[in-house]
Amino acid sequence: MLSREDNDLITQTNQGTPMGNLIRRYWVPALLSEEVPHNDCPPARVKLMGEELVAFRDSQGRIGLIGEHCSHRGTSLFFGRNEECGLRCIYHGWKFDVDGNVLETPAEPGQSDYAKKLHHTAYPTHEANGVIYAYLGAKEQQPLFPNYEWTQVPLEHSYVTKCLLECNYLQGLEGECDSSHLSFLHRNFTNESNQPVYKGDPAPSYDTQDTDFGVRLIATRNFEDQHYVRFSAFVMPVYGCVPAGRKTNELEGYEIHTYVPADDTHCWRYDIGFHRGRVVNPEEVHRRKQINPDYTKVCNARNNYLQDRHKQKTLSFTGIDDFLNHDGCATESMGAIFDRTKEHLGVSDKAVIAVRRFLLASAKDLTNGKEPPHLVSEQAKNWFPHIDCFAHLVPRHVPWQKKFDFLTDSADKENPMSYAARKKAAS
Ligand code: FES
Ligand SMILES: [Fe+2]
Repeated sequence: MLSREDNDLITQTNQGTPMGNLIRRYWVPALLSEEVPHNDCPPARVKLMGEELVAFRDSQGRIGLIGEHCSHRGTSLFFGRNEECGLRCIYHGWKFDVDGNVLETPAEPGQSDYAKKLHHTAYPTHEANGVIYAYLGAKEQQPLFPNYEWTQVPLEHSYVTKCLLECNYLQGLEGECDSSHLSFLHRNFTNESNQPVYKGDPAPSYDTQDTDFGVRLIATRNFEDQHYVRFSAFVMPVYGCVPAGRKTNELEGYEIHTYVPADDTHCWRYDIGFHRGRVVNPEEVHRRKQINPDYTKVCNARNNYLQDRHKQKTLSFTGIDDFLNHDGCATESMGAIFDRTKEHLGVSDKAVIAVRRFLLASAKDLTNGKEPPHLVSEQAKNWFPHIDCFAHLVPRHVPWQKKFDFLTDSADKENPMSYAARKKAAS
């Protein structure tokens, strides 16, 4: 349970709010590359933390993310002309470049240098493996772009989808930190061959570790004479990393589910996945079928997620197709912003509690002048190898800390292990 004050603090992200200030210090996904597919293509609307923006790819392929409303008298630049290295407003022809410079004000007298005195809102962007990331904080505090593993693998080893989640970002993010729902929400009665662990032990025990990147989350279940240990991670500020769809005992890569606030009652869910050693199979992007061209979900609150009560009796726990929609129904049906003064947390919520604490402490610290964690000021030579997510069977007498010591922060800094080395260590 949270106090009313903390629930407001952690869920509100508009400009000037403590959590809004915190998230703005990091690079977050802003849109997909496919939304601005080629030079001089139509711009795309982007809403982030209550800010109305447009993105465009200019004549040189540079990506601009600028305020949607024209600096002159506010017409939406979404309708603008993307031409000759700038976006031109359709009302009186003012033209803006990717950096927010006002290039032309053609309705003003010929000699006017009015445009030079103006600056239009513009944020830096970074494109990696189909995702355009943005930094919405103060220019003088801009960190380097983090060298995450999922941004470094070859493009054909990765996949990504985006959809609108119609509730506050924290409800989505908390779902990623909660391994116990795997035994219920996502259960499929007809295909339990890969889920005996979740069926057999629905009450995992949790360990959590505060790290330099956020919180490592470890859920342990009993399975025959072994422990089934599932590692996931909360990475600042809105990334949930999980071994979704990955085989037990494999260290082949993982998925990153990101919940970027659009405003306080909507967020963008990005599902990014990657494989270390192979290209992506077509069926791995199955969730695209669940998403409309405008990135709303086909199954949503207005059609009760197309729940089938007969299937709920015979096929699956929910009677709803696809885990994306299971998560959507579970989190959106809490209401646009869940009132956490009314909840009753249990032992199974230990990881959720740890992540909330980390986020709240970071936001309060920033308000008090302390710098947030996990800002990259010096380019890492390697990706962050201690952010790894996988599920592994371990003999009961072996503590996971001993078997997977390559995850510890100190091991990472001193001696980042290659994939081959960690695979050997885990075998
Ligand atoms: S409102 Fe855009 S140029 Fe006038
Ligand atoms: Fe889920």
